[in-house]
Amino acid sequence: MDSILVRSNGPLKGQIPIAGAKNACLTLMPATLLSEEPLTLTNAPRLSDIRTMTQLLQSLGSEVTSLQEGRVLAMSSHGPVNTHADYDIVRKMRASNLVLGPLLAREGIAEVSLPGGCAIGARPMDIHTDGLAQMGAEIELRDGYLHAKAAGGRLKGAVIDFPFASVGATENIMMAATLAKGTTVINNAAREPEIVDLATCLRAMGAQIEGDGTSSITVQGVERMHGATHPVVTDRIELGTYMLAPAICGGEVELLGGRINLLAAFCEKLDAAGIAVSETERGLTVARKNGDIRAVDVTTEPFPGFPTDLQAQIMALLCTAEGTSVLEEKIFENRFMHAPELIRMGARIEVHGGTATVTGVDKLRGAPVMATDLRASVSLILAGLAAEGETKVSRVYHLDRGYEHVVAKLRGVGANIERIKDA
Ligand code: EPU
Repeated sequence: MDSILVRSNGPLKGQIPIAGAKNACLTLMPATLLSEEPLTLTNAPRLSDIRTMTQLLQSLGSEVTSLQEGRVLAMSSHGPVNTHADYDIVRKMRASNLVLGPLLAREGIAEVSLPGGCAIGARPMDIHTDGLAQMGAEIELRDGYLHAKAAGGRLKGAVIDFPFASVGATENIMMAATLAKGTTVINNAAREPEIVDLATCLRAMGAQIEGDGTSSITVQGVERMHGATHPVVTDRIELGTYMLAPAICGGEVELLGGRINLLAAFCEKLDAAGIAVSETERGLTVARKNGDIRAVDVTTEPFPGFPTDLQAQIMALLCTAEGTSVLEEKIFENRFMHAPELIRMGARIEVHGGTATVTGVDKLRGAPVMATDLRASVSLILAGLAAEGETKVSRVYHLDRGYEHVVAKLRGVGANIERIKDA
């Protein structure tokens, strides 16, 4: 298994290109199932999660070809489709559940393994299945699989009020509704940029969708969808992660492809902490304002609030801020696993339930630490960039799920980081 070695170094300078969004690409790929014609995604990120989704779609009978070193995904689902999404693939990645809506819409039937919980929380699928049931699906859990069947062979439109603005449920229902009979309204829908990106792609495929980006989305079902080519939206979480590198180390870095509107709540917190963010022609530049980093309080919320996927990374910054920061995690019940690792590096953090209190220390010290999930791993790398001595982050396979070329991107701006093979 590989590890990443990070050593403390001075200010960072240069540019980091930001890839297409993992979480957008993972929901755009299953949209291929909604049409017999080809769907091509450009600006795709090169990540192991994308390879897992490729494997899943191929197991369902779709053709998925990776072109231009993975930047372009050419997909086609013109032949017969297998409606069984197997546990062996689904268990590797929760986003596999995003084939449920498209399969049900296309074939009127689907058997999708229930993904199970993961390190950050239980992550049930009741909002997805309740919504599909309102659209006329009969859904039963048997042998660890969700067996879903549309009454009469086709889903029908419904007015669905979500109890929580779930990202995945909004995506599944939106895709299912494109081919349903009649109109579907999703109230309390998620508003993330990845939802808008999916709606844009579905419209290019012939879907009739309005209201994406607001909390009420209306989908008028159509008889068939056609092919399209769609560029994947910028990865706002990769963007926010790399924005923190110059904030932690000093210097000035330009994030190519970045836009403030993808991360307004995060940018406000950086501003309050003493970090200047400005838009350039090609993206965003980030540098410290004069003076120390100041403590800020953070509460994670659905978009447009502060993203849970950047909570671990901002904690790395706040570990050396002046004062005490309170971080409240409202989306997942177990998303502070990076805290004990940061404490091993000298951070002062107390966790009580969904609240972490971080009291800034002068300096972190390098230590061997363990990555526990995707965002936790990258927060340890960020912390290591400014820590005295050497930090060795093990279990970096978590990182490969969501960050392409993390070592090359950080080395490109002067970071002292390398990937090593453990003996
Ligand atoms: N929830 C339910 N029932 C459901 C669905 C969700 O109780 O039927 C709960 C979850 O257990 C969780 C909360 O609602 O506590 C939020 O879940 P949501 O459905 O919004 O999240 P998701 O679709 O499973 C996506 C991202 C996550 C990101 C969350 C929140 C993808 C592939 N994943 O997950 O990304 O944290 O939205 O923004 O889009 C990551 O990239 O590291 C990651 C975990």
